[in-house]
Amino acid sequence: MRKTCKRGLLGAALLLAATTSSWSAEPVGPKDVVFEETIVKASLTSQPGNPAEGRKAFADRKLGNCLACHKNTEMSEQQFHGEVGTPLDGVAERWKPDELRAIVINSKKVFGPDTVMPGFYTLDVGVNVDKKFEGKTILSAQQVEDIVAYLATLKN
Ligand code: HEC
Repeated sequence: MRKTCKRGLLGAALLLAATTSSWSAEPVGPKDVVFEETIVKASLTSQPGNPAEGRKAFADRKLGNCLACHKNTEMSEQQFHGEVGTPLDGVAERWKPDELRAIVINSKKVFGPDTVMPGFYTLDVGVNVDKKFEGKTILSAQQVEDIVAYLATLKN
């Protein structure tokens, strides 16, 4: 009887350890992202996305470089806006944050395998993407969350 009780306590302690470790600051890895159809519900990080940082990563030619393909009127101070993708004006009214997260993480899961939009948080970055990204993600988990938070501010 005593023995079972002790084992029970040990089990409870282990369970507690396991649960607390899932609350730690470690971001979700690119292989562990959970897609439900075309949405990713859970944030990749424990820190909420920062729209101001997201705006910077969006415009940064070495990070999101989203302007290479997307027009974004809110960013008219930036010189060049591409036209390969849809203009992102009012995008928050077309997609919910968990859909925007899925698009930025791996656009192929939403638009299909032929999209030219890179996957920014997947090891399958896409055909036209620089070889230096093989085995790496273009954006960090926090940069994805920041960009999603920024996109969520783009209302008409
Ligand atoms: C190489 C070009 C390219 C780059 C770079 C790119 N996209 Fe796209 N994106 C597209 C295309 C093309 C589409 C339209 C979907 C399709 O047909 O594949 C799209 C669609 C989208 C959509 C849905 C738009 C809508 O209104 O329906 C969002 C949101 C989006 N992109 C966000 C981003 C963000 C954020 C970045 C930067 C982190 C980015 N894209 C970088 C090509 C690109």
